[in-house]
Amino acid sequence: MTTVLVTGGAGFIGSHFVRCALHKHPGWRIVNLDKLTYAGNRSNLKDIEGDPATSSRHRFVHGDIADENLVDSLFAEEKFDYALNFAAETHVDRSIGDPGAFILTDVYGTYVLLEAAKKHNLSRFVQISTDEVYGSIEEGSFTEESALNPRNPYSASKAGADRLAYSYFATYGLDVIVTRASNNYGPFQYPEKLIPLFVTNALEDKPLPLYGDGMNVRDWLHVEDHCAALDFVLLNGGAGEVYNIGGGNERTNAEITRLILETLGKPDSLIRHVEDRKGHDRRYSVSTEKLLTLGWSPTHQFEQGIVETIRWYESNRAWWEPIKSGEYKEYYRKMYDERIRTSKGQAQ
Ligand code: NAD
Ligand code: DAU
Repeated sequence: MTTVLVTGGAGFIGSHFVRCALHKHPGWRIVNLDKLTYAGNRSNLKDIEGDPATSSRHRFVHGDIADENLVDSLFAEEKFDYALNFAAETHVDRSIGDPGAFILTDVYGTYVLLEAAKKHNLSRFVQISTDEVYGSIEEGSFTEESALNPRNPYSASKAGADRLAYSYFATYGLDVIVTRASNNYGPFQYPEKLIPLFVTNALEDKPLPLYGDGMNVRDWLHVEDHCAALDFVLLNGGAGEVYNIGGGNERTNAEITRLILETLGKPDSLIRHVEDRKGHDRRYSVSTEKLLTLGWSPTHQFEQGIVETIRWYESNRAWWEPIKSGEYKEYYRKMYDERIRTSKGQAQ
């Protein structure tokens, strides 16, 4: 049996990875270490935990990656073969208001995991970084060799973790791989991020707060493609290497917004052009040549995947309604109420 540590496995991407990996690798046992912050949700794993074929190979541990004693004893007890670090504070807007939590989890937490990995001779450590570490690019695409230029506290903390992980390879010879993926979409994404926020607001006939002119560009990657790429680089990648993972689906936020409204049959009058995000990166774009050459490419078609995703939120109100009716209400009030009140109204 191969024992794999997944951190942040109750979050959006981590829970998909746990599901995909347990189904794909019957010889794997996954230990899922998650702090269950506002973004962690055990119900993301309900199917895994309710199915004897997977539940017997999944151990959930409620804890913090920045807790040295817990992490060290877990490594000693479980003798992990591999670790994939998904755990992070992940929302750019929250990082603008409260950077401290991002430094503690994304940087210090990664350090704690790397120390344990070094001490316990882990075979491979995958650090889930992000394309945001490169910063914004007006034209062309960043390669793995491009300089890093993170421009908000979230991406800066991720860049710190990204290079810290690499330093454990360069300095101590720990087998580390760093991945930098583009924006993920799919089921179970916390409704603070663009797509689930706008889909669920539209379903509730609430305004869609589009930042600035709505012309910022993101490259959308289906979450299952991201997880397949992580599985692929874990098993086929080179030690010390960085891999970009992109979907090849660049869209403006205004295009995504209209697609959501059209799919749900809701009016454009729900769109509000609100005050822009501070330091808002204009465009993200990564070259995925390196991963293509190694032998992996995405399989989900965006036009189909996005409609399926929108329909998933439409059919799974029982997943997001409790989230949006809890402490989330206070977050939403602080983040959006004033912006929407002073907004310029519908997009032109
Ligand atoms: P998410 O916010 O949905 O989930 C994060 C998970 O980490 C939650 O379950 C949370 O409880 C857990 N967590 C937070 N702090 C923790 C701590 N101190 N100890 C243990 N667990 C903790 O995030 P996501 O969107 O699934 O992102 C997962 C990873 O992928 C992150 O590292 C993120 O930077 C990276 N990433 C995300 C995207 C994207 O589009 N969402 C793209 C590229 C990279
Ligand atoms: O690129 C990868 C990154 O993608 C990940 O590393 C991050 O964890 C993830 O949160 C995501 O960051 P973004 O800032 O790109 O995602 P977000 O969904 O917050 O915003 C996407 C775009 O939509 C961005 O240009 C801001 C805009 N936006 C977002 C929200 C929440 C709006 O216009 N209105 C909104 O209310």
